[in-house]
Amino acid sequence: MDTVTWEPAADGVDPCLVPKRRLASGALMPAIGLGTFGSDHVSAVEVAAAVEGAAAVGYRHFDCASVYGNERQVGAALARVMRCGVRREELWIVSKVWNDRHADIEGSCRQTLADLGLDYLDMYLVHWPFPNFHPPGCSVDSRSPAAKPYIHENFMRTWRQMERLVELGLTRHIGTSNMTIPKLKLLVRDGRIRPAVNEMELHPHFQQQELFEFVRAQGIEPVGYCPIGSPGRPERDRTPEDTVDTEDPAIVKIAQRLGVHPAVVCVKWAIQRGQTPIPFSTNRRNYVANLQGAVSEPLTDDEMQAISGIDRNCRLIKGQVFLWKDGQSWEDLWDVNGEITPP
Ligand SMILES: NC(=O)c1ccc[n+]([C@@H]2O[C@H](COP(=O)([O-])OP(=O)(O)OC[C@H]3O[C@@H](n4cnc5c(N)ncnc54)[C@H](OP(=O)(O)O)[C@@H]3O)[C@@H](O)[C@H]2O)c1
Repeated sequence: MDTVTWEPAADGVDPCLVPKRRLASGALMPAIGLGTFGSDHVSAVEVAAAVEGAAAVGYRHFDCASVYGNERQVGAALARVMRCGVRREELWIVSKVWNDRHADIEGSCRQTLADLGLDYLDMYLVHWPFPNFHPPGCSVDSRSPAAKPYIHENFMRTWRQMERLVELGLTRHIGTSNMTIPKLKLLVRDGRIRPAVNEMELHPHFQQQELFEFVRAQGIEPVGYCPIGSPGRPERDRTPEDTVDTEDPAIVKIAQRLGVHPAVVCVKWAIQRGQTPIPFSTNRRNYVANLQGAVSEPLTDDEMQAISGIDRNCRLIKGQVFLWKDGQSWEDLWDVNGEITPP
């Protein structure tokens, strides 16, 4: 079939102008991606429509995962995008292995490739370092009786299978998500291939400065999830202590100066700080605004500094369902004392 050169929509952004991150491999990753986690309020069909619409306005980086339950629909959208003339090598497609497939990484990756309709991924991530299955949508109090802590030798078994995927050509890069400094130190020490990225929660009220600096010093690119503070997350993922980034006076003030939604300020700050945000949106106006934020006038030094001063250490995705024994608190998942929490 003939392909045509696909021009971005009039209000879109030329993908060539979108900032890129150079990974340790030399590959260039667009410094903003579209999240695709519809959780329990946005259907697979709506997410797929957003993927197609976002590609039409200039997005090339898509953050997928098998557990999002929509890779088949997203794959159909990507096929339409490519039929319209976007070449596979212009896209940056990420997926992740879910926690119940740590022992069968190749099978999981091949399933994702089949669902997405692709021959290879640009990036494949271990979604969480805990091999515990939880059904999507389960309550935060739910605990798997077979839940296991992080056990480094088990994680290395998983990581060796990840490395094998690169040899097989099923993915160009591999990376981690939801890791901590002590876990990454062991992985960097024992792995043959270093993670190309670490996907981690990052937004103005949760800046994770130490981990952010650590991964960059290791040549690992930080990818930031919930970059807007996940205002649409379900009720079960909220606690009374959670703060709201988009209502922070420092963010609101900058948004007013620029005449944009505070969400866009969060995205601009993320890119300018040096992480790669992956904001989710199925609203065309919003995903266009986020992409335009990546190429418009930068925040001033004073504004960047003002945002660096509003960190609230407010983790939104606490991960309680991965706790492995009674009497633990979610902080145990995050090695807050700088050591891996003992089993
Ligand atoms: N690795 C992991 O463990 C992990 C964990 C969580 C998330 N993620 C990834 O990160 C992605 C993003 O995280 P998230 O979806 O939780 O949160 P988010 O991107 O911080 O927030 C998304 C919400 O912000 C709204 N929004 C987006 N742009 C906006 C704008 N310009 N103006 C106003 N509202 C705007 C969206 O609503 P509309 O749709 O109405 O625009 C949506 O409700 C996920 O989709 C997923 O791909 C990864």
